[in-house]
Amino acid sequence: MKKEEAQKKIKQLQEIISQHNESYYKDSNPTISDFEYDILMNDLIQLEKLFPEFKNDNSPTQKVGDDTKKEFKQVNHKYPMLSLGNTYSDEDLIDFDNRIKKLIESEFTYICELKFDGTSISLTYENGELTKAVTRGDGAKGDNVTENVYTIKSIPKKLKGNFPEEFEIRGEIFMPHKVFNSVNAERTENGEQPFANPRNAASGSLKILDSKIVEKRNLDCYLYYLLSDNKIEKSHFKNLQNAKSWGLKISEHTKTCNNITDVLDYIKYWDSERHNLPYDIDGIVIKVDDVNQQEELGYTAKSPRWAISFKFKAEQVETKLLSIDYQIGRTGAITPVANLEPVQLAGTIVKRASLHNADQIELLDIRVNDFVYLEKGGEIIPKVVGVNIAKRESNSDPVNYITICPDCDTELIRGESEAKHYCPNEENCPTQIKGKIEHFVSRKAMNIGLAEATIEQLYDSKLINNIADLYTLNKEQLLQLERFADKSADNLVESIKKSIEVPFARVLYSLGIRFVGETVAKVLAKSLKNIENINNASLEQLIEIDEIGDKIAESIIVFFSIESNNTLINRLKNYGLQLEAEYKEEFENIFNKKTFVISGTFENHSRNELKNLIEKYGGKNTSSISKKTDYFLAGENVGPSKLEKVEKFEIKRISEDDFIKMINKK
Ligand code: IVH
Repeated sequence: MKKEEAQKKIKQLQEIISQHNESYYKDSNPTISDFEYDILMNDLIQLEKLFPEFKNDNSPTQKVGDDTKKEFKQVNHKYPMLSLGNTYSDEDLIDFDNRIKKLIESEFTYICELKFDGTSISLTYENGELTKAVTRGDGAKGDNVTENVYTIKSIPKKLKGNFPEEFEIRGEIFMPHKVFNSVNAERTENGEQPFANPRNAASGSLKILDSKIVEKRNLDCYLYYLLSDNKIEKSHFKNLQNAKSWGLKISEHTKTCNNITDVLDYIKYWDSERHNLPYDIDGIVIKVDDVNQQEELGYTAKSPRWAISFKFKAEQVETKLLSIDYQIGRTGAITPVANLEPVQLAGTIVKRASLHNADQIELLDIRVNDFVYLEKGGEIIPKVVGVNIAKRESNSDPVNYITICPDCDTELIRGESEAKHYCPNEENCPTQIKGKIEHFVSRKAMNIGLAEATIEQLYDSKLINNIADLYTLNKEQLLQLERFADKSADNLVESIKKSIEVPFARVLYSLGIRFVGETVAKVLAKSLKNIENINNASLEQLIEIDEIGDKIAESIIVFFSIESNNTLINRLKNYGLQLEAEYKEEFENIFNKKTFVISGTFENHSRNELKNLIEKYGGKNTSSISKKTDYFLAGENVGPSKLEKVEKFEIKRISEDDFIKMINKK
């Protein structure tokens, strides 16, 4: 390759990889697989080796990806948090073994560990107490996520036994499959985008500002690397066993291997056995056990020379794409679904797979009758990742993506920044109407005992055409329908009647406003109190509310601008549904309208985070101190004039710690 060509290619690869780093680390939403990423990275490493004059400190080969977010306080790592070199083949691993043998002349042993697929964390314990939890960040500094980590049950806040006075332990926070499935089921039901895999779900969840929501995500954590200035064992394995005795969660699958053949056996075993684990692993980590030998081997800019990861290739199968269906969601979103020749993949038979949207079909150039490659995203949801072009029929045509709704024939629309097409016929598209009613009656919404088939029956017999019609149903009407007997008719009428008591936040969620899931509905109900206020709120007012971003705010404005939605709400109000918040019942009103003034800089939270917490728990923020101020929340470097006023008006002064305790006590 010519010099100019290499320079251009290196620059291009550096830019592309940096962009992928951004999607992976900052947005928890990668757009390519790890394997594809590693190929790009490897190309860049090779080119930079051949043309070192074009390598620079900003190249992604020279620094680890950065996951820090401005909303969190950044903390410097005491010991840099490095990444690991990757290998995909036995040959590469044998090369690694030869390198180690050359560099250390004495005997050595390897420790093999599972490579947990989540997001890395560094925990600091001082005198047996967890004092700090920090993400990897850019390797030198990371986000302080201590409050969120306190919610993870498998991470002890206090240790037992004979632990060093101060130490750091690193590990991986992950989301077990069971939790991932239920979080995604809930997100889908709420019209939110499901997480692509458990790893994104874990890293996204760890970066939520409200630790109460993080707690609900049921994250878990395995720890795998102990560091301390105090005296610790000279064997990595022994350090892990000791950490276990202090109450820290260490994997029981860690194994000592005396040679590379044993390592390769361990890898082979886990490549198939990993499908039976209740969480994702994406490979095996191989470490030299002896800490002195580790020091002897040392580090490159990005990773230790004494450890390496062997990455598993995602299991792939090939099968025929028979046809494409288009599913219509309750919000009108269209999802293309592949009907496949049934095939066995990672323990289950796959017949259908999501094709996501029109762009994805175009990007992969997927055509009906093609032989496609399937993978399980996060080993759970099957996805089509490519096409075997060699097997394509010569007369095949690209997919003509539908332009009209397959149910009501309305022309589909697609917003500028939207990935999906939508059927805009909200009021008359039968699938959307039935979907909205199904959502309205569901357990977490109005909890009306009504099965999908019965909704179909009521809709077909023209007894209901929208959610408000449910409240007009009577026993006589139901008894005229097939399958309804005295008791079942009574039960349904009773269940509908009882739903009138459902609190406002749940009624709001039941309305099925796009992007207004359970949590957002609670936040809206709490801040704006009733449906009129929500209807009247401007885009700016909505965005000011904690957790409400542009997308949600716009969706709320659009919902209330539709005449028929307002008619429905008026009818629901007349039937007696709760369209106003009962403050006490629904929220933790810890501060009960008490006023706060915040000043100074804080150790663990930004001022905005603290302000949001005050509002979340029913308090009010004000900027200047007066005799009406209830609490003065003071950090470091508070100005003397403020302190004078605090004293003059005898205002209660609290620290960041006091404040967090006030919240956690309730
Ligand atoms: S050791 C200096 N051990 O994999 C040693 N890392 O691709 C650093 N990971 O950043 C890491 N399981 O987030 C180690 N058993 C394990 C691991 C592990 C998962 C992650 C970790 C690291 C990444 C490197």
